[in-house]
Amino acid sequence: MFKTVIHACAAGALLLSVSGAQAQDAAKGREIYVAKGCYSCHGYNGQGGVTGPKLAPDPLAPDAIAAFVRNAGPTRMPQYVEKELSNEEVGHIHAWLASQPKPKNWKDIPLLNQE
Ligand code: HEC
Repeated sequence: MFKTVIHACAAGALLLSVSGAQAQDAAKGREIYVAKGCYSCHGYNGQGGVTGPKLAPDPLAPDAIAAFVRNAGPTRMPQYVEKELSNEEVGHIHAWLASQPKPKNWKDIPLLNQE
């Protein structure tokens, strides 16, 4: 029982490392996303561009984004080490990506529903 509690705590602490350590701030995330140049490949709204795939809405989890940016490169996407982009900043970027509006359902667009 004691062991299980320890394991649960360790898992919780790991999850907290990116996602829960601090309140995530979408406005800050937007600033960081632009300042760090993510927009140049992924589009100003994370919609994707010629170079980089779509990131929003429904982004990867913060931990997955952190893992990706730390291990990216050297060819298609530059690598961002923790000194350049902290886990906290990744959390803010995630909050902003997640706050992007979802596209309309095609069934609600009259032009796409003509007989
Ligand atoms: C020079 C262009 C470029 C820049 C700048 C860039 N990316 Fe990327 N990114 C890419 C490309 C290209 C891929 C696809 C790479 C692949 O699949 O190997 C990618 C993939 C990703 C993915 C994985 C998406 C998925 O669903 O698989 C994430 C997350 C991501 N980028 C986040 C970021 C963030 C956050 C920043 C800024 C800190 C950033 N990128 C800056 C080009 C870029």
